[in-house]
Amino acid sequence: MKVLVTGAGGVLGREVVARLAADGHAVRAHDRVTLPRQAADLASEVVVGDLRDGGALEEALTGVDAVVHAAAYPSPNAASEADVFANNVEASYQVLGAAGLAGIGRVVNISSLSAVGLAWSQHDSSPLSVPLTEEHPYIGDDVYGLSKYVGEQIAATASRRWRMTVVSLRFPFLGTGQRLRTHLSFIHADPGRDRGSLWGWLDSRDAARAVEASLTCELSGHVLLNVAAPDTTSLVPTAELLRRYHPSTRIDMPLDGFATPISTRRSTELLGFTPIHTWRSPEASDDGR
Ligand SMILES: NC(=O)c1ccc[n+]([C@@H]2O[C@H](COP(=O)([O-])OP(=O)(O)OC[C@H]3O[C@@H](n4cnc5c(N)ncnc54)[C@H](O)[C@@H]3O)[C@@H](O)[C@H]2O)c1
Repeated sequence: MKVLVTGAGGVLGREVVARLAADGHAVRAHDRVTLPRQAADLASEVVVGDLRDGGALEEALTGVDAVVHAAAYPSPNAASEADVFANNVEASYQVLGAAGLAGIGRVVNISSLSAVGLAWSQHDSSPLSVPLTEEHPYIGDDVYGLSKYVGEQIAATASRRWRMTVVSLRFPFLGTGQRLRTHLSFIHADPGRDRGSLWGWLDSRDAARAVEASLTCELSGHVLLNVAAPDTTSLVPTAELLRRYHPSTRIDMPLDGFATPISTRRSTELLGFTPIHTWRSPEASDDGR
């Protein structure tokens, strides 16, 4: 399969390029910045440009079977609020529209659990209930979550308009190696720091495996999926975390040990995907990265 990967130079895009190349797919890697050496070497082609320049996309999509759209500002602090919104929404609009027009059969749209609106809330919001499923209403008050939520609506619209299969993956924090260790130590010092993200996380290598599964499994229409590790980022049991930090949340699940309060039932069933990387064993994430 030949796959266009946008945001190929980023935290997730690099892992996706590596995963797809390792499994024999041809990758056309796209970013507006120069790719890190490893991603550039693994890709069969590299295209540099800004996705908001829709005119260049037709050429970038020529001969491609599928698209992984990972390019975005990944937080509300990555640029001015207006730029975060404009960049993320317009890039999604251009990529999904161009893919539809080009007759591409499958797009994996990288979304975020931030699209629910909790992760970057300025008002310490709580989920109505856990497990947090894909059906939880949008309750956002921040610009990044809004941009990802709108991105999902663009994906759903494009899927209906062009009868294209689009899989929107809602990921939590993504990292491996030192990036993951830094994130964990920040939370272990104060578990309240991760309350908005419900202590969700996923090793970025597992995220790339979920992306690959989304490219190849039998699906149709627009499919929205939570994908997260089965456990939390925290050393504090989940029941205690919810009692301390989300006392108003209705609990509709057994809370065993460090189980994630994010529902992954749908992605497990539809993708046949389960994460394999954990941080809790001694050798975990000690891969020198
Ligand atoms: N990092 C996380 O923890 C996390 C968690 C959940 C979801 N996500 C989502 O995963 C995706 C990838 O995030 P990341 O962490 O790899 O971000 P990143 O910043 O590391 O990489 C994103 C890449 O996209 C490129 N890009 C952004 N806008 C572009 C544009 N208009 N044209 C061309 N290139 C553009 C950037 O140059 C960058 O290389 C994003 O959609 C993000 O919302 C990230």
